[in-house]
Amino acid sequence: MKTPFVPGPRYSGWLPGLDAVCYGGDYNPEQWPEEVWEQDVALMAQAGVNLVSIGIFSWALLEPRDGEFDFAWLDRVIDLLHGAGIRVDLGTPTASPPAWFFRQYPDARVVAKDGTVLGFGSRGMAAPSSAAYRKHAVRIATRLAERYGDHPAVVLWHVHNEYGAPVGEDFSVHAQTAFRDWLRARYGTLDGLNAAWGTRFWGQVYGDWQEVGVPSATPSVANPAQRLDFARFSDAMLRECFVAERDAIRAHSALPVTTNFMAVACPATDLFAWGREVDIVSNDHYLWAADERNYVTLAQAADLTRSVAGGKPWMLLEHSTSGVNWQPRNVAKKAGEERRNAFSHLGRGADAIMFFQWRASRSGAEKFHSAMLPHAGTDSRIWREVVALGAELGQLGDIVGSRTRADVALLWDQESLWAQGLEWRPSEDLQAGERIQTFYDRLWRDGVSVDFAHPAADLSRYRLVVAPASYLLTAEAAANLTRYVEGGGTLLVSCFAAAVDENDRVHEGGFMAPLRDALGVQVEEYLPLRENESLTLTGLAESGATVTGTVWAEALTLSGADVVGRYGSGPAEGEAAVTRHARGAGVGWYLSTVLDADELAPLMSRVYADAGVVTSGLPEDVEVVRRADVDAEWTVAINHTDTPARVPVAPGTVDAVTREVTDGEAQVPAGGVRVLRRALGEPA
Ligand code: GAL
Repeated sequence: MKTPFVPGPRYSGWLPGLDAVCYGGDYNPEQWPEEVWEQDVALMAQAGVNLVSIGIFSWALLEPRDGEFDFAWLDRVIDLLHGAGIRVDLGTPTASPPAWFFRQYPDARVVAKDGTVLGFGSRGMAAPSSAAYRKHAVRIATRLAERYGDHPAVVLWHVHNEYGAPVGEDFSVHAQTAFRDWLRARYGTLDGLNAAWGTRFWGQVYGDWQEVGVPSATPSVANPAQRLDFARFSDAMLRECFVAERDAIRAHSALPVTTNFMAVACPATDLFAWGREVDIVSNDHYLWAADERNYVTLAQAADLTRSVAGGKPWMLLEHSTSGVNWQPRNVAKKAGEERRNAFSHLGRGADAIMFFQWRASRSGAEKFHSAMLPHAGTDSRIWREVVALGAELGQLGDIVGSRTRADVALLWDQESLWAQGLEWRPSEDLQAGERIQTFYDRLWRDGVSVDFAHPAADLSRYRLVVAPASYLLTAEAAANLTRYVEGGGTLLVSCFAAAVDENDRVHEGGFMAPLRDALGVQVEEYLPLRENESLTLTGLAESGATVTGTVWAEALTLSGADVVGRYGSGPAEGEAAVTRHARGAGVGWYLSTVLDADELAPLMSRVYADAGVVTSGLPEDVEVVRRADVDAEWTVAINHTDTPARVPVAPGTVDAVTREVTDGEAQVPAGGVRVLRRALGEPA
């Protein structure tokens, strides 16, 4: 049995001078005449705004011509905010280089895979490996840091904007050269490269570095190892750009540096690697309107962000007050929905609740995007909700620095996601992202809070580790998982796991060979189903009912594991489908088909029993998360249903906003939220 979460001291590496939950949003005063700024600042005070992100897309104004800088307007904005006690998260504007830059360096434009050169007139990254881009990005970041690095209003640096969006990969001439250099550093010799990429297949052997290229459009499927390395390289180039700006800033300013991630939504960045480079982890999250349970995806993104932050608090730098503008149907949030979204983030460790954006833009591509201050002005539902939320968060300053508790880890490895997403897999219906989301959904419905963890990370404190999509698993990571089981952990691995190594090469010994000790089972053959076909499993549910699987089956060979569930139909009818293997002090479970969140329930209850994981027992769609430090524990309860809910709490628990004492049970209104605080050390 593993040691559960123990509340530690309050995390103190937070923004200088701020001991409140940060509240505010992206502020783009340059889009407005100066007389509007005064009004903005007055309204910000009314809404409880204490932090704004500025300058993110201002390069063309800050450096109107190459090497000619104009900071006067930004000085006035920052001084005005300072005068009102509003802190500044100062952007470097490098996600949107000016027109003069691209005119001067047309080769710094991003080239798409099909050779299309992406032109000026929107926003987006220049070619990240272009030396001219990097030089100019570092210069503007340096100038900003020199000027504002110790301005009392500035508390945080916001480098660039959403690295990897809108484009993560660049196929320009600069990428071509940089990719070769990156490969030389990785493999040393051309022989090393040929071996890693398996170039004897289809006669792709390289005899000279000049022959090695970026994986542009090819007549048939490109070498998957090359594609995987190109994904790694593209991410590395973006990270180098970030690090160059960050270091330029650090030379002149002691303030923390962040860049806003897009957890779950951006496939271009390996977030665990990025998490090691930033001082404070921050994230942007937008609901996908077509997804009716998008609050579960929100929770997943928040948990991933916290995990990237190593369990420390983090910042929600952007979300929306209501609808966005870039989906096919931009559904407005319902009354109370934004409040539930905000508190789910808070409960999952966010110490900042920020929006895109403060005031809705009149011009440009985002004029139909919601804002804190909508086009309708202050006599509007959105504004009233914004003011109420600011007031509520203003009561919750002492939650800042406490940590969210989670005793279960879901594995997340961006390299595996990249690899599994390539072409020519046994079935296009088996999607890694869907698998992760479905397992997450099951845990969410059971009221079990999770962290995400890299498979090579120290997992020893988790009661349960779930590997929903570990297609690529290195021998080292597999050894780590095996040690985890032997040390007393419960591991649940889902199908198509440990198929390949870091070069997308099938493991020696066959599929899943490196997990043989942990799971006591091997995969002889993958048996994908036809589209919309399903199969049954027997033996899993206590009730004796069958469970329905889809998409996938496997022919398993047992090497020590017990069979818990069998295929009742499908290509492996009568054979093992779900196995359990006692190994050392722990247990390794294997599920060889695809179950949806409902069908996963009987399996998960057995796995929870092995791991000692306790479910919340609350009605479905009542979300409860807990944060704690040594002094107190906060229960954040969010009712997504339209009937009131009761959440059991310890006696002595107090509503953290109204200070009202509860009597062992907190009522959470339909669609409502409660934040409850219990001083630790008091009887449970
Ligand atoms: C984000 C971006 C913002 C804004 C927002 C709209 O991805 O960082 O600048 O465009 O989307 O939803």
